[in-house]
Amino acid sequence: MTNDIERVLISQQEIEAQVARVGRRISEDFRDRNPIFVGVLKGCFIFMADLMRHVDIRCTMDFMAVSSYAGTSSTGAVKINKDLGQDIEGRHVIIVEDILDSGVTLSYLKGYLLNRRPASISIAALLDKPARRRSDIVADYSCFEVPDAFVVGYGLDYNEQYRNLPYIGVLKPDIYS
Ligand code: IMP
Ligand code: MG
Repeated sequence: MTNDIERVLISQQEIEAQVARVGRRISEDFRDRNPIFVGVLKGCFIFMADLMRHVDIRCTMDFMAVSSYAGTSSTGAVKINKDLGQDIEGRHVIIVEDILDSGVTLSYLKGYLLNRRPASISIAALLDKPARRRSDIVADYSCFEVPDAFVVGYGLDYNEQYRNLPYIGVLKPDIYS
């Protein structure tokens, strides 16, 4: 598996430090607000698990599953495969995503959840890839800005592989070309 990686872009240690910093900031910003963290499966699973251990305030969690992507390019269409199991009206919602790329997925999801009249919606993304943005959405919290390369690991996949790498790596282009 590691033979498919061209280079390590973000090391385990760097991830750990930034995730801790974002967890502390969210804790300060949402103290006494009982936010609900909404993880977007499957890409969020490692980031969210680590992030939550640095959030020291009362909060709840739920998950959604959406698909918008096949291979390395977004199809532009977003489908909800698993919805929330609870009402979010009046709640402070923090969407937890692996990467904000074109922004198509998150702007759709944000609009979808806004219809349920939450008190607020914020976005926490592990990675931000601004070069490819197609909608005007921004991450309220992000750990790293990444260049326009296809990255995998720490939850991010290429065709469902590489999610288990403990770092963020750039995939060798010949793997997907
Ligand atoms: P967007 O709708 O284009 O912002 O893309 C959102 C989804 O595309 C993310 O949740 C990822 O699953 C996937 N994605 C975008 N860029 C990458 C990447 O570099 N590596 C792995 N997945 C990516
Ligand atoms: Mg994803």
